[in-house]
Amino acid sequence: MKKYLFLLALAAAGAAHKKLFAKYDCNSCHKGKMGGDGNAIYTRPDRIVTGADILIDRMEQCSGAIGKQLTEQEKLDLAAYLNQTYYHFK
Ligand code: HEC
Repeated sequence: MKKYLFLLALAAAGAAHKKLFAKYDCNSCHKGKMGGDGNAIYTRPDRIVTGADILIDRMEQCSGAIGKQLTEQEKLDLAAYLNQTYYHFK
């Protein structure tokens, strides 16, 4: 089911991620962890996201850590963006 949602997201990728990154302050924690470049977390050699389902799970954990809940559409938009830009899952 999650995988199916993810495939839909591939078609839906737009510029929505910019708003969402700001809304959820996505790279604030990542910056601290990676020593400056928050985006580096998505390409680190030991990255933990190795599939679409794990990507969705991880985003849920991340937003949960700041007490926020991503909507299904937001998950799709963010997953599509991260996949197209960094992960390239097929
Ligand atoms: C409360 C701090 C915090 C916030 C806010 C946060 N993250 Fe994270 N994120 C982390 C930490 C810490 C890790 C690394 C987890 C680990 O190494 O086990 C991580 C890892 C990730 C990864 C996995 C990187 C990899 O190794 O492949 C993704 C994807 C991700 N975050 C996406 C997001 C998105 C999207 C948002 C905004 C909706 C977000 N995060 C907001 C703390 C946060």
